[in-house]
Amino acid sequence: VTEPDLGERHVVVTAGGTREPLDPVRFLGNRSSGKQGYALARTAAARGARVTLIAANTTLPDPAGVDVVRVGTAVQLREAVLKAAADADAVIMAAAVADFRPAVYASGKIKKKDGQDPEPIVLVRNPDILAEISADRARPGQVVVGFAAETDDVLVNGRAKLVRKGCDLLVVNEVGERKTFGAEENEAVVLGADGSETPVPYGPKEALAETVWDLVAPRLS
Ligand code: PMT
Repeated sequence: VTEPDLGERHVVVTAGGTREPLDPVRFLGNRSSGKQGYALARTAAARGARVTLIAANTTLPDPAGVDVVRVGTAVQLREAVLKAAADADAVIMAAAVADFRPAVYASGKIKKKDGQDPEPIVLVRNPDILAEISADRARPGQVVVGFAAETDDVLVNGRAKLVRKGCDLLVVNEVGERKTFGAEENEAVVLGADGSETPVPYGPKEALAETVWDLVAPRLS
């Protein structure tokens, strides 16, 4: 039986991957399916929370009893997170957010021109939403959790990222072409700003989600 240990709490979860448009038919994107974020939303609702799920380009069915807000780009995700976080007890950033977007959006489809080299794509930085909400908490005691998708030196890079982003917990998962992104399973280490390290063995994304909430619940003020 699931304990309603998140009852009366408002939690915000982001899921999926942002898409940064180049022209009306093309975008820069990533392989996130949203499954990990949806598992976090479902498990939080089962534990009694009021859940706002901010979903970037996902095709999964809406979880029952969860408020779903749909977004496309990193800038739209930021707007939605800032709005929902205003009265949230916890914010979990499981979405894969593009660090850069094309500097220019072409309003017509970019065409190839005979005998000419393609134009380079110039990128500009996107806002770092996790760093921003960690530095400027909408509420005292709000718990902020980030995810880190790493391909090598995962723990060293994860520790550095936790400090850089300023969040309370960072879920470090190793990614590869067929690993984690889009998969049903995940494996991670949850790093705490207090120096704690909680390994979560390979298993369903729900199991990792439950461990995240087990770590968030006692940190809620
Ligand atoms: O969706 P699935 O297919 O289930 O896959 C799950 C997942 C691999 C996407 C998920 O477990 C995961 O690791 N999500 C974070 C992926 C990511 O973008 O990692 P990052 O190391 O680039 O970013 C670190 C953190 O900063 C993340 O919490 C991210 O949401 C946040 N971020 C990143 C860039 C940016 N401009 N703003 C941010 O807030």
